[in-house]
Amino acid sequence: MSENSIETLMNEERTFDPPEEMLENSNITAQQYEEACRIADEDPEKFWAERARELLLWKRDFKTALESDPEKNEYKWFAGGRLNASENCLDRHLENGKRNKAALIWQGEPEDEVRVFTYHMLHRKVCRFANVLKKMGVSKGDRVAIYLPMVPELVISMLACARIGAVHSVIFAGFSAVSLQSRIIDCDAKILIAADGVLRGGKTIPLKRNVDEALFECPSVEQVIMVKRTGDEIDFIEGRDTWWQDEMAAPDIEDYCKPESMRSTDPMFILHTSGSTGKPKGIVHSTGGYMTITAHTSQWVFDLKDDDVHWCTADIGWITGHSYTVYGPLALGATTLLFEGVPTYPRPDRYWEIINRYGVNIFYTTPTAIRSLRREGSQWTEKYDLSTLRILGSVGEPINPEVWIWFHEHIGKGKLPLLDTWWQTETGGILISPLPYVGKLKPGSTGHALPGIKTAIVRSDGSEASANEGGHLLITEPWPGMLCTIHNDDARYRRTYFERFPGSYETGDGARIDEDGFHWIMGRLDDVINVSGHRLGTTEIESALIAHPDVTEAAVVGIPHDVKGQSVYAYVTLRSGLDQDDETRTALCNWISEKISPIAVPEAIQFSEGLPKTRSGKIMRRILRSIAVGGTEFGDTSTLSDASVINDLIEGQKVLF
Ligand code: WT7
Repeated sequence: MSENSIETLMNEERTFDPPEEMLENSNITAQQYEEACRIADEDPEKFWAERARELLLWKRDFKTALESDPEKNEYKWFAGGRLNASENCLDRHLENGKRNKAALIWQGEPEDEVRVFTYHMLHRKVCRFANVLKKMGVSKGDRVAIYLPMVPELVISMLACARIGAVHSVIFAGFSAVSLQSRIIDCDAKILIAADGVLRGGKTIPLKRNVDEALFECPSVEQVIMVKRTGDEIDFIEGRDTWWQDEMAAPDIEDYCKPESMRSTDPMFILHTSGSTGKPKGIVHSTGGYMTITAHTSQWVFDLKDDDVHWCTADIGWITGHSYTVYGPLALGATTLLFEGVPTYPRPDRYWEIINRYGVNIFYTTPTAIRSLRREGSQWTEKYDLSTLRILGSVGEPINPEVWIWFHEHIGKGKLPLLDTWWQTETGGILISPLPYVGKLKPGSTGHALPGIKTAIVRSDGSEASANEGGHLLITEPWPGMLCTIHNDDARYRRTYFERFPGSYETGDGARIDEDGFHWIMGRLDDVINVSGHRLGTTEIESALIAHPDVTEAAVVGIPHDVKGQSVYAYVTLRSGLDQDDETRTALCNWISEKISPIAVPEAIQFSEGLPKTRSGKIMRRILRSIAVGGTEFGDTSTLSDASVINDLIEGQKVLF
């Protein structure tokens, strides 16, 4: 980034100390942390080898922690080792006194629909379903596509695949037929597991017709296993479609299935994520590295203990759900909570009611969810005793300091550690985050890189940025859990992540590191706005807007400007009842000028009631950029949670110009 960067002007100076009384019982104390950092610095491979051996059950020990071929950007973790992810998540807990404890609590969208699976019950279901897959001819290395809402069968399917060494590819149930099809084709799946529909916000959304449409051109798929969820009528294609219940109840299906002994480096799953250009990338994760990073970070970052109820609100269709609803918590033998619904239905207190009902200890969610719940007001949180909570987490996008403070104050009662965790689909698990009871927290910062993780901020020419100077965020040493490739496109893997800054992994994010070593993520570099040569992180302007008492939500984009190159266009949602007039606009411009710089003052402010967001909560700035310049073509909008906001925004833009 340029020397002119002004992001340092936004000074967030508040800090919070971790609650001392909790430090003593934590999985990692300040002293242990220092020690871990020392070992990881001196001999990172030894550090990771120790963690891998301590956390996982290896059927055969590995010879070396890391075999790397930097020429090819090939990094093989724990080569020679053998293990099975499902055995690590289930079997070993049957023998260590956890057979009858809850492994999975499922809260359906209807309040009275609850299912609880003990480790014994989950193990048996997974074994039976693994046998169903085997009976259909699925074997080690075959790909299985999973297109399911947040129901227990989703977790069972994933673990069953892992059990027999099949590679699962979960496709978020919010995706359209087209997106489903391209992902199935890309991974060449043999079997598809799907549902009739989804329950969402009190309505049912059909899924099966997407399946039928997608499968028009997916010759690889031999069978579709259907989970009945909504009970709506569907077209059932004899010979191809079959019901989950029928398959599971078949008399020849046995209760036990031997876990396949997998090489540490064998692919465990594929998960597609969008790239900045072209078709989605099928990120491939391997067994040993992935299981190590998820178990490791669950234990250290979330301080996960045996008797904890862990709730990660993300959909399992995203990596967050893979790592912190399924594999991390189950590998450690904790209780994981799966919630089918949305935070605001039937009332905006759903999250708080669930935390209270199940005594949730660790609550991991997204800034966007918190922003929307903050908007509803604190009367909804005050109704509930949330005292079981011990740790709060945030992920997915930068959390604006004001939103952080609200979360900390209203849910964390001003004392719980609130961890802003940074990572990506590609990284497998959390890489940059505060640890709950070690060191200070700064609202809006993701803290330090975890022990064993090495980061750097560099300028476009590759030279190291100085403290507080924004630049490209790189991970300079390999880590367990890093992607092993992009499915079917090794060249793209090398080009995307290793070409521009040789020897390092390029995250694609902009960030700065302050004088205390805290990381401040500025958003994807493609979200950077360049006004008269000054680089502005969209996040920082948004955070400043949200910090204004009248504003509840804001998104900014860059639009072309004759003189400045680009200028700032802001979408702002005001608290209800406030005047959407020029006076308010002037007040907001003055505010930005004061909080950041006159350079960051928006050229235009459009008041809006809603923003286009993906179901995982990311604002689709691409659409906002297009609307801001009067565009009407938005490309693929299939991942939007509510596409109807677009028309309102287009109308709003017309009024403005
Ligand atoms: C991108 C990765 C990994 C979990 C979910 C998203 C952004 C992620 C943070 C954070 C600021 C964050 C980055 C990253 N991101 N966590 N704590 N603060 N930004 O996974 O879909 O692969 O997206 O999400 O831009 O590159 P993903």
